[in-house]
Amino acid sequence: MKYYFPALLLLLFSCSPIADKGNSDSITRTYGPIGSSAMVSTAHPLASKVGKEILLKGGNAFDAAIAIQFTLAVVYPVAGNIGGGGFAVYRSTDGQVGSLDFREKAPASAHKDMYLNTQGEVIPGMSTEGHLAAGVPGSVDGMFKLHERFGSLPMEDLIQPAIELAYEGVQLYDRDVENINKYQELFKKYDHGHNQLIKETPWQEGDVLVHKNLAGTLSFIRDLGRDGFYKGIVANQIVAEMNRGSGLITKEDLANYSAIWREPLVGQYKGYKVISMPPPSSGGVALLQLLQGAEQFDFSKTGHNSAETIHLMTELERRVYADRATYLADPDFFDVPVDMLLSKGYNTDRFSSIKKDQSTPSSEIKEGKVDIIESIETTHFSVVDANGNAVSITTTLNGYFGCKVMVKGAGFFLNNEMDDFSAKPGVPNQFGLIGNEANAVAPEKRMLSSMTPTILEKDGQLAMVVGTPGGSTIITCVFQTILNVIDHGMTMQEAVNAPKLHHQWLPDRVLYEEGTLDEALLGELKALGHEMEPRSALGKMDCILVLPDGKLEGASDPRNYGTAAGF
Ligand code: GLY
Repeated sequence: MKYYFPALLLLLFSCSPIADKGNSDSITRTYGPIGSSAMVSTAHPLASKVGKEILLKGGNAFDAAIAIQFTLAVVYPVAGNIGGGGFAVYRSTDGQVGSLDFREKAPASAHKDMYLNTQGEVIPGMSTEGHLAAGVPGSVDGMFKLHERFGSLPMEDLIQPAIELAYEGVQLYDRDVENINKYQELFKKYDHGHNQLIKETPWQEGDVLVHKNLAGTLSFIRDLGRDGFYKGIVANQIVAEMNRGSGLITKEDLANYSAIWREPLVGQYKGYKVISMPPPSSGGVALLQLLQGAEQFDFSKTGHNSAETIHLMTELERRVYADRATYLADPDFFDVPVDMLLSKGYNTDRFSSIKKDQSTPSSEIKEGKVDIIESIETTHFSVVDANGNAVSITTTLNGYFGCKVMVKGAGFFLNNEMDDFSAKPGVPNQFGLIGNEANAVAPEKRMLSSMTPTILEKDGQLAMVVGTPGGSTIITCVFQTILNVIDHGMTMQEAVNAPKLHHQWLPDRVLYEEGTLDEALLGELKALGHEMEPRSALGKMDCILVLPDGKLEGASDPRNYGTAAGF
């Protein structure tokens, strides 16, 4: 895939440098859009527009988030979804915090060895492509659960904008065209007619993509509630699609799906309260471990992306991702030792082996051999309303367009979330992440995630809403974005724009964004023992920061084409 990010990033940084922190008059800061009372930040301008309109109509942040989720399913089919799942973290105006797990589940007939051949080897592609890769979708039930508890406008009003966009069609951006054209062969492979993304001649920027069947599916959901998806016509269409491709999802799996309210994880970082997603996401645990480790250093002194800072962040990350592979899984199936992993004693000890002048090979932390990260797509959005309610949602089909199977007649893609299970202990998934028995496939189990929707509070007040797509890189991108604001004094937009890096224990190499580290710095890092590998882009953040005057700064990542919009 072609990314435009590095050139854009260099442009942003050269146009708007933080010229000299010692002479405040000369500082030119880069801010995202500022709103005096409310803000949304999403991966697509139309989703941001819909979210903002819901807020202007008097809807709250939960209403806007629900409308955005349904709109993204239409305008951003690469990751927006009703055929996938996700996580929501919220902080309501009275300071109550919570989280909703609408992660997909393994079908009831799924089993531990379902992706292995008779020799016990993983069958390549089986958990990433086609019908067997799909977990039972959770997004629709999640949105109804969120609405039931917090919605203020009628659900119909929140789904209607998506229906209209699906019916009228959506103009494609160059990035959409690139993705949709790239996957034509796979779409055709799994199509039994009706996939509106298939076209004999390449799609062009500005073409209008109409989603008539999806408009119909969304109308069933509007009129019949969750049953419009999990029962009746749409459920029958999903099951018929499964039967065409030997998939496992049954009517019972769909009828039985239920999103779960979970206690969010709450930690501290330099006076901020950090609220994030508990298991089955690894995101919250890993982020809070990283922040505990970061408190042992002073990144504001070592400086943003200096060799010392990158080295120390990398050393924290390799240890935390090794823990992730061993201990994290669906808490309804595995006793995840969250308290231990977040205890001060454990982390002080865990990070005590970090050497300031030398990297620790990952093989010394735990043996393993894995492959490279493949394509990564998910989407994140952040919303704050005029009353101070904040919602942070990361939602996904997993890979680009999920398993590439569009449900015939229903107009939406199914996820390939089953790949987030560990198909076999020690064998990497599409993100190069390895796992063990804790995250093995089991009937009705939720697969481990890295999604890290997060909210920060300072002195009892909302401070920041953050999140990003990016598979295994989600956690480290959220970590760096938080450090960028708190330790490096960046605005939200600068924190989002800033070059990111990533290490995940195995493979033992530091990913960095191509063109963002100079040769001297790369040389210093190599001398410390780090293998450095360029990537076109890391993260596509959509975040909101509360400014000292109470206004809201939205920031959508220039690596993507989303927008922040407020008032
Ligand atoms: N599918 C990406 C994740 O959940 O981490």
